[in-house]
Amino acid sequence: KDDRISRISSAIRVIPDFPKPGILFQDITTLLLDPRAFKDTIDLFVERYRGKDISVIAGVEARGFIFGPPIALALGAKFVPMRKPKKLPGEVISEEYSLEYGTDKIEMHVGAVQAGERALVIDDLIATGGTLCAAIRLLERVGVNVVECACVIELPELKGRERLGDKPLFVLVGST
Ligand code: PRP
Ligand code: MG
Repeated sequence: KDDRISRISSAIRVIPDFPKPGILFQDITTLLLDPRAFKDTIDLFVERYRGKDISVIAGVEARGFIFGPPIALALGAKFVPMRKPKKLPGEVISEEYSLEYGTDKIEMHVGAVQAGERALVIDDLIATGGTLCAAIRLLERVGVNVVECACVIELPELKGRERLGDKPLFVLVGST
């Protein structure tokens, strides 16, 4: 297999019991400290989506803001931030998603995207899939075609992929 994947996988640090006992936290900050592994990560996404006529890269705050912009620049696409509530200054639309306890929201600026555009949603990790589903709903509400979602890491035991239904999901590594 692509040895770039093994380098990426080894550069992700796993921290037990963060933020709570029993949780194995997948820490991508160590991937960012390894320029070669970080570049490999971006290159693998760019290779997959080049020539696919994608005009929008949507990234979810906060960690989708790390991987989304370099991909957008390489593809010549716009980067659209999907932010936590009350951060965006213009008119927004918002979508709620469930957390373990309670709900949260993400917001997108009205006018950032146009109906008929082709989008890719980027985040660092898919767990339950709630965050990506909310991002997809935001884009589809305004007529954008979400071609695929892409993450560096998937936690398959949380079955986020099933929650995405028919929407294709591309991931580089399973949980390390
Ligand atoms: C983490 C991660 C994903 C999301 C995945 O973000 O970066 O965005 O959880 O979980 P899900 O698939 O169950 O929705 P988090 O909300 O912890 O915040 P951050 O990115 O701002 O650190
Ligand atoms: Mg996040």
